[in-house]
Amino acid sequence: MDAVVVENLVKVFGEIVALKGVSFRIGKGEYVGYLGPNGAGKTTTIRILLGLIKPTSGRVEILGHDILKDPRSVKGRLGYVRQGLSLELGLTVEQSLELYGYLWGLSRAEARRRTRELLEVFGLENIRKLYPSQLSIGMRRLVQVIRELIHDPEILFLDEPTTGLDPVARRRVIDYIAEWGRERDATILLSTHIPQDIERLCNRIILIHRGVIRADMSVDEFKRTFGGLTKITVKFPKKPDPGFTERISREAGEAIRALRVLGACIEVYARRGDVARIVESIAVEARREGLELIDLRIEEPTLEDALIKAYLEA
Ligand SMILES: Nc1ncnc2c1ncn2[C@@H]1O[C@H](COP(=O)(O)OP(=O)(O)OP(=O)(O)O)[C@@H](O)[C@H]1O
Ligand SMILES: [Mg+2]
Repeated sequence: MDAVVVENLVKVFGEIVALKGVSFRIGKGEYVGYLGPNGAGKTTTIRILLGLIKPTSGRVEILGHDILKDPRSVKGRLGYVRQGLSLELGLTVEQSLELYGYLWGLSRAEARRRTRELLEVFGLENIRKLYPSQLSIGMRRLVQVIRELIHDPEILFLDEPTTGLDPVARRRVIDYIAEWGRERDATILLSTHIPQDIERLCNRIILIHRGVIRADMSVDEFKRTFGGLTKITVKFPKKPDPGFTERISREAGEAIRALRVLGACIEVYARRGDVARIVESIAVEARREGLELIDLRIEEPTLEDALIKAYLEA
């Protein structure tokens, strides 16, 4: 059974058609990045999946339940870190974590134990007695994120959970969620604009743009599809003569998509699969010329490059 099934979801807000027939499935235990430019429809989709708003039409099944017919059926099995800061009750960090625990049906002792555990893992014991108004924005956000883990949900929806966190806190959140989820075989849907978080946590990307799903593939395939070419940079002791680069171009043939000479360096752009062969041709030619290779760098297109390209193309 899939954890999430979405079929032909349409959501109209007055004049705006936010979702134009969105369909996807997420298997149990999958970690999926739900990405797209601002206003693409990510938060709208997530709110529908949680039963917080109704779609105009379409079908949503969560953990085998029809969420539109029976929105309460799976509530306690889901976790939701909403986009932006939530309103806080006038409770200390510790009290608010414990309260969430009871609300989700943990016993008092269990809620207290789990609260202590989360505060310790995130190094927040020193702020456990503070009120939200006494916390920095990033700390409030962190508390809001870890609070959603207290009842060990089976599906966790994260809507830009790390926005505003410092790099250490960000990595701690992502790594903790990764491990927490793996232990429980939890399913995770992460919406974010931070490529590093996707690369660390997810193995699949679903891309939405203007309410339409534009891509649904593994992170590696996404980078290959949208990221463009791999760049090979080779540095020599001196500028290689034109005959040298001509011979390399001839030998590697069509595999070389572009070649530039920049002083003592040559830069070659190629597809990932052709890189080894090209590097070999360069090394062979250099040896024949008695040219030493001082440095060799191979740069894969980054996920950020791929996302920008995908957003602009879509
Ligand atoms: N309650 C609402 N009333 C009217 N329009 C809405 C409402 N909620 C969302 N929209 C519109 O629906 C579209 C999708 O918004 P949504 O919040 O889902 O985008 P998003 O992908 O989450 O963007 P971001 O990356 O900025 O968070 C936008 O055009 C937005 O203005
Ligand atoms: Mg959003």
